[in-house]
Amino acid sequence: MNSRVVEALDSIIEGLVVPSFTSIGPALRRRLFQWQALNSYDLSGQVIVLTGGTSGIGEEGARLFAACGATLVIVARNAAKTAALLDELRETSGNQKLDAVEADLGDQQQVREAARQLADRYKRIDVLIHNAGALYNTRKRAANGTDLAVELMVASPFLLTGLLLSSLRKAAPARVLTMSSGGMYTQALTVDDLQMSDEDYQGAKQYAKAKRAQVVLNELWAQRMAPSDIVFHSLHPGWHCRDFQNC
Ligand SMILES: NC(=O)c1ccc[n+]([C@@H]2O[C@H](COP(=O)([O-])OP(=O)(O)OC[C@H]3O[C@@H](n4cnc5c(N)ncnc54)[C@H](OP(=O)(O)O)[C@@H]3O)[C@@H](O)[C@H]2O)c1
Repeated sequence: MNSRVVEALDSIIEGLVVPSFTSIGPALRRRLFQWQALNSYDLSGQVIVLTGGTSGIGEEGARLFAACGATLVIVARNAAKTAALLDELRETSGNQKLDAVEADLGDQQQVREAARQLADRYKRIDVLIHNAGALYNTRKRAANGTDLAVELMVASPFLLTGLLLSSLRKAAPARVLTMSSGGMYTQALTVDDLQMSDEDYQGAKQYAKAKRAQVVLNELWAQRMAPSDIVFHSLHPGWHCRDFQNC
């Protein structure tokens, strides 16, 4: 199919939002863009840093990256859970290049320490994936008092990207992926109101605001960095929930 037709069809799917952000989107795009099977990629030699790799979508990603031979580093707050997952992945994939850095991404001191360890251990980072995220039904605050959703999904990824720019540039062209959400379409970006007041707090709304801010920040990074150095992507993963009561 002609590439302009493919792009036009892709824009239509995107513009209609629902077909783009449900399972229809990847199914159509797989055919339009002739995507190859994910597990057919050879990622050996690629250093991939992944946050939120201990559960859900990130864990599935970790399984895939391990199976494809990547050097995978999971940045996670629960050391025992991460170690158990990495042991399992070493056994099932045979890939021994799996590593962990411990950090609670709701704490900027720990984000800084994680960045220092990553830069010390790896000469270059090919891919940085900001996947950790959460929707808090009641207001939670980070160590510095910031709304925890904003800290975890906006401030912390921004800080980690900034601190790892030099490691990413060494892998030019590197990639930074941010796992946002189609839920962001429900909220415009209002910088003054990025953190809702305690009185008005609604978890889904606060989550959507943070996700919108992630995407806008991603665009700003992309404007400032040469794509020959670092390419920035933000994406929606599809809808998935293990426990609908607590979604
Ligand atoms: N599921 C969906 O339908 C959906 C839809 C749109 C977007 N998303 C986005 O996709 C991403 C993954 O979602 P998911 O459903 O796979 O979530 P999940 O199963 O709840 O996993 C969230 C991951 O983030 C980590 N995390 C949370 N708070 C953290 C913190 N303070 N410090 C370090 N790590 C922390 C968790 O670590 P622990 O294992 O220690 O808890 C876990 O690994 C999120 O950004 C989410 O917003 C999901």
